[in-house]
Amino acid sequence: MIDPRPSVISERLSGVKRVIAVTGWKGGIGKSVTASTLALTLARKGCRTGLFDLDFAGASDHLILGAKGLFPKEEKGLEPPLLCGVKFMSVVFFSENKAVPLRGANVSDAIIELLAITQWGELDFLVLDMPPGVNDAALDVMRFIPRAEVLAVTTPSMIARDVLERSLVLYRKLKVPVLGVLENMSPARSPRAGRIRLDPALEKALGRPEALLKTAFARDLDRCLPFVFGKMKL
Ligand SMILES: Nc1ncnc2c1ncn2[C@@H]1O[C@H](COP(=O)(O)OP(=O)(O)OP(=O)(O)O)[C@@H](O)[C@H]1O
Ligand SMILES: [Mg+2]
Repeated sequence: MIDPRPSVISERLSGVKRVIAVTGWKGGIGKSVTASTLALTLARKGCRTGLFDLDFAGASDHLILGAKGLFPKEEKGLEPPLLCGVKFMSVVFFSENKAVPLRGANVSDAIIELLAITQWGELDFLVLDMPPGVNDAALDVMRFIPRAEVLAVTTPSMIARDVLERSLVLYRKLKVPVLGVLENMSPARSPRAGRIRLDPALEKALGRPEALLKTAFARDLDRCLPFVFGKMKL
């Protein structure tokens, strides 16, 4: 039997110009703060932006953005709530902040279901916050959204860089376009090299989007964007 889901997902995303998957196989390297801040920054620049937290075990964008009391509206599918100009969707809306005891095929089914029912409408960018590792979510995104582009995050640590190299080999093999690599928690700022400094003030800004946008972290990320997105007007 032909699987109808890829065409349903592709129809749902037909109004989305670019899908950016923020990945990095190592855990705790700043994927979620990068994805959330990137979405806020793009929205602040006037781009129509969505953010989708796909990390079932460790959803955290709702904490980073302070998304309390929000819930998608059911209207011929699910309409993501708007938060600081960002259409925000998270698996946490369906888990009520409890650990989700989903495994393997169930995680896959849930992700595919959410991709198939979420109404993003017209967007310039849909940012996907990916869980660590190369797991079901990562493979499903590549399978069901073949046009997704990867923005990889790493740190200066030799361990994170080694894991990054392995991920890049797989993306090359699967012909997944890699927009760029951001070196987070770097000792020096260097936008051209995609470097974002360690910012001791970041923790205090979590949960407050306006404060988050004013951090050195957000400023460094913003300066990296022309080197990630090229000369495209943002
Ligand atoms: N440049 C930075 N300066 C200071 N703190 C940072 C920086 N980048 C990330 N952090 C902090 O590191 C922690 C981990 O960040 P985050 O949750 O974004 O990582 P992650 O890669 O998404 O983790 P996971 O693999 O669990 O999804 C958070 O507390 C975050 O605030
Ligand atoms: Mg994360």
